[in-house]
Amino acid sequence: MLHVSTHPVIQRDVTILRDEHTSSEVFRAALSRVSRLLLYEAGSDLPVKSCRVQTPLEQCEGSVLAKRIVLVPVLRAGLGMVDAFLEMLPQAEVGHIGLYRNEETLEPVEYYGKYPVALDEAVVYVLDPMLATGGSAVAALRVLQTHGAKMMRLVTLVSAPEGVRHVEEAFPEVPIYTAALDRGLNDKGYIIPGLGDAGDRIFDTGPDSR
Ligand code: PRP
Ligand code: URA
Repeated sequence: MLHVSTHPVIQRDVTILRDEHTSSEVFRAALSRVSRLLLYEAGSDLPVKSCRVQTPLEQCEGSVLAKRIVLVPVLRAGLGMVDAFLEMLPQAEVGHIGLYRNEETLEPVEYYGKYPVALDEAVVYVLDPMLATGGSAVAALRVLQTHGAKMMRLVTLVSAPEGVRHVEEAFPEVPIYTAALDRGLNDKGYIIPGLGDAGDRIFDTGPDSR
């Protein structure tokens, strides 16, 4: 269940994000805009409950979201998507999972986790701009499943086919929403053409700073 956006505004912003000359300030703003539009697509089937609302003129039918929403950014880069999601879903609860890739093995290393209660009742959005080997996304989804999450969605900015396959094999029921499906991975596990290290580009840190 891979959804690749074709929205022209998203494609314009993905181009800004890919550009090596884009500053962190501009990068963060473009990532926020794309995240808002991705939520529009990734939220189009959220369950709703009907309700009555009194307008200044009369009563009519209205809708409220039927499920709690939980956002789980994968640290660090997923943080760049949270504010945009919260703008549209101000009642959402936010968990955090800390994962980084071991640069030699490319395996994810978990270093932090804090989640809202009763994840089984919520629609859980895992937010991470980059889906490369898929190791981090699969690890995040596994942790959340262990904490009870059942209705999970993965939202990414740029994905590699390898990462998509990895997630689809481990979690065939989890829809993936992405702004771009790229060609593949280089020998260091970076997405090509990609946009480089998303965390470094958002936070203006160098690749050797860990
Ligand atoms: C990046 C990215 C993903 C992961 C993707 O994080 O934000 O979490 O790599 O790669 P994968 O699909 O091969 O697992 P990174 O490990 O660079 O950590 P950082 O955000 O803290 O820099
Ligand atoms: N993580 C990133 O930030 N970028 C990639 O291309 C791959 C993993």
